[in-house]
Amino acid sequence: MRPDPLAYLTAELNALKEQGLYRKLRILEDEQKAQTTFDHRSVVNLSSNNYLGLTTHPRLRERALEATRQYGVGTGSVRTIAGTMDIHMELERRLADFKKTEAVVVFQSGFAANAGTVSAVLSKDDVVVSDELNHASIIDGCRLSRAAIKVFPHKDIDAARKILQTLPASQRKLLITDGVFSMDGDLGPLPQLCALAEEFGCIMMVDDAHASGVFGRNGRGTIDHFDVHGRVDIQVGTLSKAIGVLGGYVAGTRALIDFLYHRARPFLFSTSHPPAVAAACIAAIDVLLENPKLIDRLWDNTRFFQAGLKSLGFNTGASEGPITPVIVGDGALAMKLSDRLFDAGVFAQGIAFPTVAIGKARVRTIVTATHTRDELQFALDAFASVGRALGIVQ
Ligand SMILES: Cc1ncc(COP(=O)(O)O)c(C=O)c1O
Repeated sequence: MRPDPLAYLTAELNALKEQGLYRKLRILEDEQKAQTTFDHRSVVNLSSNNYLGLTTHPRLRERALEATRQYGVGTGSVRTIAGTMDIHMELERRLADFKKTEAVVVFQSGFAANAGTVSAVLSKDDVVVSDELNHASIIDGCRLSRAAIKVFPHKDIDAARKILQTLPASQRKLLITDGVFSMDGDLGPLPQLCALAEEFGCIMMVDDAHASGVFGRNGRGTIDHFDVHGRVDIQVGTLSKAIGVLGGYVAGTRALIDFLYHRARPFLFSTSHPPAVAAACIAAIDVLLENPKLIDRLWDNTRFFQAGLKSLGFNTGASEGPITPVIVGDGALAMKLSDRLFDAGVFAQGIAFPTVAIGKARVRTIVTATHTRDELQFALDAFASVGRALGIVQ
């Protein structure tokens, strides 16, 4: 038998096991909702991005089924050949109206939207100035573009300014931040970054994946929250988190969107969304417009749960929204906390290096609009008893 050329992968996995960082996938055996069943156990679910409970909303479900009956299950082509249906165009029009921009292009995922856009709009002579905690899809887009990448410490405007001061005025620059940082739940400093972009003539781009449906009026995102309309050239949103379905989009000028139709590689080279996805996303926009109380409930639950964690003595970092980390430092301890919570009926995922820096390991919690107070109190009680047993709080 020939030697296994992939044997080094097994060695790396064994190292993860030794460090207590090897994870088995948790299997969801029910709907994605606030109390559900993973791995045969009923748990309060604090691990999904289903902020508004739209994954199981009757209206989205119905529209997805209708679209499947009308159009079938797939599109059979990429958007640029035969895979653009009228329902895809309707979704892009609805999103552009919602975001108050000239146009929108929808990608297969938020990841594809970020990576496809950054790599399309920049090339090797350009430079990206990027927050150190920006999402992996931004980092991959930057690498694919072959532009120079300059990273500034998290939210450090002075450091970003110093980088910009060293760059020639004639060089094309992209200044880029997450709207909401996915591991900490804090917000990018958009007004200050927009001012910098204006001063130094940068393209300004914001990845609003975790802000879509959560921040701003009716969930229009951090651009609306900070009222920086017209100052962000490229806005990315996702349809996979609060919107409850799947996909990502870029909102901006007609020229930007036409350019991406011609040059963004995931748009050109990967098959378009099934019609059910587009239909459910359109229904989600209707829900956001007609039922803003859903977002109010999300925020009420966020305040209740965060206050509870803080009063128990947990380190919840700098969160400003429904993503609340419980930072414990050591990776193995974070995984142990997550496992013990699961045994106690609460699913909150442990997260360690390389997803977060060494020494910043955590359990990440995300509450939704659909959690009941009893469910959240149950989760807080579990955090209290497991946190004490592990010596994380007193
Ligand atoms: C900040 C951020 N941007 C982009 C994405 C990618 O979005 P999607 O899940 O739609 O690919 C994520 C999701 O993990 C994210 O957290």
